[in-house]
Amino acid sequence: FKDKVLLHSLIHEDMKNFFNSYPGHAHPMAILSSMVCSLSVYHPELLKPNPNAKETSQTITRLLSKVRVLAAFAYKRSVGEAFVYTRPELDYVSNFLHMMFTTPMRAYEPSETIRKALDVLFILHADHEQNCSTSTVRMVGSSKANLFASISAGVCALWGPLHGGANQSVIEMLEDIADDDCNYKKYIDKAKDKNDPFRLMGFGHRVYKSYDPRASILKKYCDQILEQLGIVDPIFDIAKGLEEAALTDPYFIERKLYPNVDFYSGVLYRAMGFPTNMFTVLFALGRLPGWIAHWKEMIEDPGMRIARPRQIYVGPKLRDYTPIGQRNPAG
Ligand SMILES: CC(C)(COP(=O)(O)OP(=O)(O)OC[C@H]1O[C@@H](n2cnc3c(N)ncnc32)[C@H](O)[C@@H]1OP(=O)(O)O)[C@@H](O)C(=O)NCCC(=O)NCCS
Repeated sequence: FKDKVLLHSLIHEDMKNFFNSYPGHAHPMAILSSMVCSLSVYHPELLKPNPNAKETSQTITRLLSKVRVLAAFAYKRSVGEAFVYTRPELDYVSNFLHMMFTTPMRAYEPSETIRKALDVLFILHADHEQNCSTSTVRMVGSSKANLFASISAGVCALWGPLHGGANQSVIEMLEDIADDDCNYKKYIDKAKDKNDPFRLMGFGHRVYKSYDPRASILKKYCDQILEQLGIVDPIFDIAKGLEEAALTDPYFIERKLYPNVDFYSGVLYRAMGFPTNMFTVLFALGRLPGWIAHWKEMIEDPGMRIARPRQIYVGPKLRDYTPIGQRNPAG
């Protein structure tokens, strides 16, 4: 399986033209979703609505391998650097780091600490039942749209700040707090104010009404990794201070709002050298196996039917209107 993943790590050379056509400031999530869908153009043989087991396995292997290439190329495009290809002797995670950070002037050799940390982050993000993006992948896939199209839709769903996009928003919020003399109270008060749309990013979860176990692993891991890398990041201290302020505030206690997986992940990504706008792409890479597993389980179910949520109309039964001929065009 490892050999197959390595073998399929090249993308069609034409696809590089797409990257070059995006503006330099394009968000890498926009590029990733478009490029994942574009893979379907280059693999028409994998688009059958009823693939057999071998074809399904081929599509999955290609996607798993190529997505990290697309993600790294999106980054390279955003910083105006040359694209870097995989190296056969490197494992999955090391190859991704190599494609991200190697330049023609400097070969990047990830330390074992960074390689292991990214592996742990990917594993922690791998699956989480019917979250917004996974349900989206299943919804799109249930029409027998191909895997590339289904995963591309999942990437779009993940992008929102209430879902995977929260990891980017958390760091941006912590930076704002740092610039604001670490005034935690101001941000806690804003989050509590019902007239203010601001929410404490990285807090709260639809399912977890207690501390998200992934967040507690990541918090401990931040301590360990930052120490091993010899990094002192004031943003980590601000995150811990904000957590303490929130967890002693009756608003958060009563509503059972605790840090979620996105609260501390960004501190680790920063320490590894990833820019903030790549954080949600990293979430997508981690979640990819989970999305694929759900899609595979669904399409292999002989009883699979197209997803079709029902809607109950609760609006007025009769609405008055002015016939077109009697309307005043001037308004
Ligand atoms: C994750 C999230 C979308 C879950 O939403 P949800 O299950 O629909 O929860 P609700 O919106 O019903 O919230 C319940 C109450 O807590 C409040 N609340 C939830 N998350 C909050 C937050 N992060 N900051 C402030 N208040 C929050 C809501 O305003 C609501 O208050 P109310 O009962 O007075 O109206 C939500 O907690 C959120 O927006 N968190 C911030 C974004 C984030 O970190 N997302 C990543 C999730 S892994």
